[in-house]
Amino acid sequence: MANYDVIIIGAGPGGYVCAIRCAQLGLKTAVIEGRETLGGTCLNVGCIPSKALLHATHCLHDAETNFARMGLKGKSPSVDWKQMQVYKDDVVGQNTKGIEFLFKKNKIDWIKGWGSIPAPGKVKVGEELHEARHIVIATGSQSATIPGVEIDEDRVISSTGALSLAKPPKSLLVIGAGVIGLEMGSVYARLGARVTVVEYLDAITPGMDRDVQKTLQRILKKQGLEFILGAAVQGVTSTRTKTRTTYRLKKDGSEHVLDADVVLVSTGRRPFTDGLGLDGIGVQLTERGQIATDSTWATTVPGIYAIGDAIEGPMLAHKAEDEGMAVAEVLAGKKGHVNYGVIPSVIYTTPEVASVGETEQSLKEAGRPYKVGKFSYMGNARAKAVFQGEGFVKIIADKQTDRILGAHLIGPAAGELIHEICVAMEFGASAEDIALTCHAHPTWSEAVREAALACGDGAIHA
Ligand code: NAI
Repeated sequence: MANYDVIIIGAGPGGYVCAIRCAQLGLKTAVIEGRETLGGTCLNVGCIPSKALLHATHCLHDAETNFARMGLKGKSPSVDWKQMQVYKDDVVGQNTKGIEFLFKKNKIDWIKGWGSIPAPGKVKVGEELHEARHIVIATGSQSATIPGVEIDEDRVISSTGALSLAKPPKSLLVIGAGVIGLEMGSVYARLGARVTVVEYLDAITPGMDRDVQKTLQRILKKQGLEFILGAAVQGVTSTRTKTRTTYRLKKDGSEHVLDADVVLVSTGRRPFTDGLGLDGIGVQLTERGQIATDSTWATTVPGIYAIGDAIEGPMLAHKAEDEGMAVAEVLAGKKGHVNYGVIPSVIYTTPEVASVGETEQSLKEAGRPYKVGKFSYMGNARAKAVFQGEGFVKIIADKQTDRILGAHLIGPAAGELIHEICVAMEFGASAEDIALTCHAHPTWSEAVREAALACGDGAIHA
């Protein structure tokens, strides 16, 4: 038994970042993690390994489609799936070991095992009982499936199974056109699979800007992904070699079946709080099973806090990280703050999609007057040079004050460019502030400036 200022349950981006900040602020800190390695879903079976596969298959796609026209002749690379897995696992290993190093550096104890909370101030791991002034729950989320669909991680897989299939399938059916479905669908389409995405709503990427939805769907279609929208999956059956998915079209109620080697279920995630014993100590959950917290991430039980995917808000690693740092500040007696209005979201397809703040739809609903500055990458020399002229930057600003309210990008390096706009929004900047900032030429960032110019007197290269 040991006494700590803070015990954090879960070492994902929320938990490990929280631990490092707690230690930096002088709190004696331990993290409980039952996985073999630190980093949670994101590092082990989420964001990081998927980015490795996206990168490798993007290079393949680039070689197949663009090399010859740049005068790079020769046979396109062939795929060594085993080596691609080794590369992916190596990337994961480097990152998880990096966190272990940071824990040692910051004198954070890693208590290995699965924790539960028998009483406020106490955490049980196996037979050991640990005490802490504060407990932070950072247990993340797990894949949620839909009625009639059972994930076996063999033929019917979640995002975890999608990272380490024995071999790339010839055909893949994806249920849900959200982030995971489009990212992993892209990976396997580039590896030659026939990919069909079945989506319940009438558009892909729910909640995103409508222009982005349409443009992304058009581009992904050109890359070989097929979409069946407005279709509710009823169930999936599978044999050792095949799967059969039944779906119903919303427009006429007709039922259809589709066969595929593998089905990826990407219909969202749900908070993971199993085994914590929250019921027993009276930690309240929301109707959607998230841990209810107040503006200081305190749960309904004094001394117990919660952050990340286990609570309300977008299930994004960087949102969890921000909450991890903020709650650490609170526990150290300072003010912790997260600006939920400026949390970017990125889809790592090619081209990338990035979004922050309000959409035109959300502003219309709120009845708030706005203006839009939009700039096509076709007018950006650098984007055209690398065959990525499709897509645009759209900045939305307040009609009267010109203050930036949101931005939506689809195009090269969108996931990087979005941060210029995030910083501007944090500073309460106007579109004109970006428009008057000198941007190096030739860069993709110039497209952001051009969109900002388009909010005023007009873009130059449009
Ligand atoms: P999602 O919530 O992004 O998309 C799920 C989709 O499934 C929705 O479009 C929904 O309408 C559809 N759907 C639900 N039931 C259906 C049915 N019966 N038939 C057909 N379609 C149906 O969920 P996803 O992609 O599983 O991702 C889970 C979470 O992980 C998200 O919160 C996401 O933000 C996060 N994530 C973020 C990444 C990133 O930031 N790049 C990467 C991967 C995941």
